[in-house]
Amino acid sequence: DMARKFFVGGNFKANGSLKAIQTIVENLNGAKLDPNVEVVISPPSLFLLTTAEKVDSKIKVAAQNVFDKPDGAWTGELTVKMLTEHGIEWVILGHSERRTIFKESSEFVADKTKAALDSGLNVILCIGETLEEREAGKTIDVCCGQLKAVVDKISTADWSKVVIAYEPVWAIGTGKVATTEQAQEAHGSLREWLAKSVSPEVAQATRILYGGSVNEKNCKDLATQPDIDGFLVGGASLKPASSVTITVGM
Ligand code: G3P
Repeated sequence: DMARKFFVGGNFKANGSLKAIQTIVENLNGAKLDPNVEVVISPPSLFLLTTAEKVDSKIKVAAQNVFDKPDGAWTGELTVKMLTEHGIEWVILGHSERRTIFKESSEFVADKTKAALDSGLNVILCIGETLEEREAGKTIDVCCGQLKAVVDKISTADWSKVVIAYEPVWAIGTGKVATTEQAQEAHGSLREWLAKSVSPEVAQATRILYGGSVNEKNCKDLATQPDIDGFLVGGASLKPASSVTITVGM
């Protein structure tokens, strides 16, 4: 949909050295990026500030997580204020690795989303089903359940600062990308659900990204789908050449 600006996020997860990230940044800075594509990269927290300083200002930087409480005694956490005060405009929340490995509940993800939005951060909100859930026909129930926790806590206006990333867990880091049909079907259902549960305007305006084994070869086909408004790229975003291809080549 032309009204929704295409969005490409690179989630480096817990990968990369200062040197490797600098190479990626230099590549992006030197690339001729399509002005119609919004590009956000998300390095590990150790590298957030350097990345924000070095990367071209049209490329934004996202933290991979944030806590929902003000500065204080929360060993190991980053607060929203630390991000907003230092030019980090985005945060990824609810990634399936946070939900499964670090046992984050949908309620906790929703509390963090609310805190991030209240502080002025933009949120890439990740949702997605496991293979078992998909095979049991529960894909949409699971994803909408994860979304509902957030819908219950944020205002209609808040949605202008949220991008949804649909990441089927079985497609993450597996090389098994969802087919264009599977992805479009899920995105279409999510948009319908948003129309009912938030508002038709929010459903129309909210970008829904696909994440899960996106690479420079499969991105073009996925991008043709009416309800796929961009990507959240893991592994391929670490390879300077293909991350540029994905972001430039749309
Ligand atoms: O957040 C992006 C991610 O989970 C997808 O990872 O490596 O399958 O592109 P990957």
